[in-house]
Amino acid sequence: MALYPATLLLHIVGVIGLFIALSLELVILFRLRAVKTTTQVHEWLTLSRVIDVVLPVSAVFILISGLVLTFSVWGWGLAWITLSLGLLVLLGILGPVINGPRMKAIHVAAQAAPVGEISTALRQAIFNPVLRVYVPISGLGALGAVIMMVLKLDWLGSGMVIALILIVGLIMAFVRKG
Ligand code: HEM
Repeated sequence: MALYPATLLLHIVGVIGLFIALSLELVILFRLRAVKTTTQVHEWLTLSRVIDVVLPVSAVFILISGLVLTFSVWGWGLAWITLSLGLLVLLGILGPVINGPRMKAIHVAAQAAPVGEISTALRQAIFNPVLRVYVPISGLGALGAVIMMVLKLDWLGSGMVIALILIVGLIMAFVRKG
């Protein structure tokens, strides 16, 4: 049983890493929307290299430790475990599909932009509306997994958490300006 607390600790380390990466993503996105020059864009983009390492490593930590915890004590089929696994897999798919190409477009536009004021192409890439919707929702999704894991909710409770997160995420995305 000594393995269990050690594995739970690894799981929590992975969760901390996940939140560091998702928070950085949010900070970078919103700072980019406020900067005035291409040099400042480059400065904020250097931070995204940290995300490229921390995010996948954390996800692997969470997944492997989560599976060990599940099979050693809890067993398969519980709502809070199944839905958190689903959320983690979804984040793993949507990150590269939705976020990846749009962040790449910002990098490409920043490389091509002349020094000085931000070019129109770079501004368009930074102000991509999909990024503004996706980045906060991914953070809220991770928060939803924490709520389900800590409260160990059944299907109804877990479903309500996921629905609440989607509603809050969409309200945040469409109410906030810019
Ligand atoms: C975004 C993904 C995830 C987050 C944020 C997350 C978060 C957490 C947190 C905060 C705890 C501590 C709960 C407590 O001790 O009260 C925990 C425990 C646990 N998690 Fe996760 N988790 C995630 C994904 C997963 C996955 C994918 C699995 C399984 C495949 C899993 C299985 C478990 C198990 C079995 C526990 C132990 C519960 C206990 O002993 O109290 N987790 N998780």
